[in-house]
Parts: sequence; C-alpha cells; structure tokens
Amino acid sequence: MKTAVYPGSFDPVTLGHLDIIERSARIVDELVVGVLNNSSKNPLFSVEERVNMLKEVTSHLPNVRVESFGGLLVDFAARCHADVVVRGLRAITDFEYELQISQTNRIMRPGLDTIFLTTDLEYAYLSSSIVREVAQYGGDISAFVPEAIAERVLGKFVGENSFGGPEHEQD
Ligand code: PNS
Repeated sequence: MKTAVYPGSFDPVTLGHLDIIERSARIVDELVVGVLNNSSKNPLFSVEERVNMLKEVTSHLPNVRVESFGGLLVDFAARCHADVVVRGLRAITDFEYELQISQTNRIMRPGLDTIFLTTDLEYAYLSSSIVREVAQYGGDISAFVPEAIAERVLGKFVGENSFGGPEHEQD
C-alpha cells in the first residue's frame, strides 16, 4: 500500500490545492493531507478550521484523509507510514524553495521522496495569500476556492473594509 502525504498551510484551501489532491489521490493508495499547525505564523483560519474545510471539500475522495501536524514534515510522514511527499509546482519561482525542502527532508530521512505535480495551467497563478488579499478588499473569490469555502473566507473580513464587501450586499 503506497501512502503519500500532501503537506501545506492551506490558509485557505484553493482550487489549485484541490486539483493536486484529486490528481495525487489517483496515483497513490492513500493520501494524507497534512495541515501545518505553525504557531509562528498568524493564520487567517485556525488549524481546526483549515482541517474541517479540507475534510469537507475532499469528502468525495475515499482514499484521502486530513490531519494536522506540528514539527517536522519527515516525522509526520513517518507517523503516517508514508514514504512519498506530494507538492505542487506552479512556476520556476517555486522550484528553488521546494528543491531545498525536499533535499533537506531526504537528508533527514533518506527513504522519503518528494514528487512534484505541475499545477494545472488554470491555477498556475493561484495562492492562498492572493485569495486572502482579494477577500480582504471584498473581491469575488469564487474562481479561486471551492464554493463551500468562499463564504467562510469573506466572512473573516466582514466589517473590515469599506470597499463593498459582503457586509454591504444587503444594502
Ligand atoms: O503551503 P506551504 O506553507 O508552502 O507549506 C510549507 C510546508 C508545510 C510544506 C513546510 O513549511 C513544512 O514542511 N513545514 C514543516 C517543518 C519542516 O519539516 N520543514 C522542512 C525542513 S526545513
């Protein structure tokens, strides 16, 4: 049985993440989506919220489960009995950072390989930080995140701007 982990911050999960999850779930027997619980970052969503959103949008995928993790990815992968890490590559700008992490992880755990899936062209520009930025100003994020997630992201910024955000929709 081939188990892989797909780690990330997922703050929030985007359609690009979901595309990588769906495609890698077809390649491996079991995929564990690992949501990083990083106390040094100041995430928009708590780790519990991020895990729950991911569970919701992956509920149609029987071989995918979602967990949170803290500390090193190599230790999380070991706990999951995974010897593969999945990461998405959007552009050459991602490559240097991803190469460094995957090589560091292989030094720490030589049996752990990282496979990179090239992001679907439709989502090549997309990142969680872009979604947060657009949402902050009340922009339409329906092309960026799963339908069930958009309202929750915009809800985080209700009352924070004067750009016609969701709080003004009933005006
Ligand atoms: O979605 P992100 O924020 O690009 O994901 C980054 C992630 C979670 C893959 C990376 O930060 C990570 O693996 N963090 C856990 C700590 C660790 O093991 N770092 C790599 C060795 S330096």
